[in-house]
Amino acid sequence: MSSKIDVIKQLSYLVIESDKAQEWSRYATEFMGMQARREGELLKIRMDEFAYRFIVQPGSSEDLFALGLLVGSPEALRQMEDHLVAKGIEVQHGTAEEKASRQVGDLIWVRDPEGLRIEITCNPTIEHKPVATPLVDGGFVTGNKGFGHVALCAADLAAAEDFYMNVLGFKLSDYIVQDIQGIPINFTFMHVNPRHHTVALAGLPSPTRLNHMEVQVGDMDVIGRAMQRAKDQGIGLYMNLGRHPNDRMLSFYVNTPSNFALEIGGCGIEIEDESTWQVRTYDAISEWGHLD
Ligand SMILES: [Fe+2]
Repeated sequence: MSSKIDVIKQLSYLVIESDKAQEWSRYATEFMGMQARREGELLKIRMDEFAYRFIVQPGSSEDLFALGLLVGSPEALRQMEDHLVAKGIEVQHGTAEEKASRQVGDLIWVRDPEGLRIEITCNPTIEHKPVATPLVDGGFVTGNKGFGHVALCAADLAAAEDFYMNVLGFKLSDYIVQDIQGIPINFTFMHVNPRHHTVALAGLPSPTRLNHMEVQVGDMDVIGRAMQRAKDQGIGLYMNLGRHPNDRMLSFYVNTPSNFALEIGGCGIEIEDESTWQVRTYDAISEWGHLD
């Protein structure tokens, strides 16, 4: 039986497991240009009106612990739970402590085919005080489009595609097949709102699930200033400035305290009209740049 569901609105947060909360706090405030606060043993990082977009919790994996997806209402969360159960997926209910720590009205969670915890929530807490991002002119591009995107490694790409699209209801944006030293590497890009992709899958086995996370800023100068801050602060560059062919994003990639990459991008395209969008396969990750 195939039933479609379309209730996920955005990627609302990431929970990162790391023993480097102190480094993350400095990185978030002094490099990324966000706000950070301690809440018990958690570090919460805020970039917009949401109470936080990243939680750093203690643990040694230095990887993604959970991906937080937001639906529009408690009713939509119940619909999603019924849908997941009908698909044979084991659904867990968040505890009172988990809901309080995530600052959401309700929370269910499942595991993706490679074991990543996917938290699906509704009714997130919005802060009345404006966020301060003095290093980021114009702030981050977030709102109803989520905080940005993630690229996940998937040893079994077909199973991961099936889960994200046929179970969770992501829509296909496009593909990239890049030949790396004679071996084709497959990337699949998926969206849930006008942001070109909210989740990208890389068909690669990897000891960690998160390849990179991305945040989006308003213009080229803000990207350039972030590159300058990385240089000034001795933060290692993974990939220099370049442009992706599919989302047309200008971006660069830097190291984070957990050693996965952060992409800072802007100036890309959005999927404004689903009915006219045409899926394509690009033969390279970058139109130009993104060199080591
Ligand atoms: Fe990316």
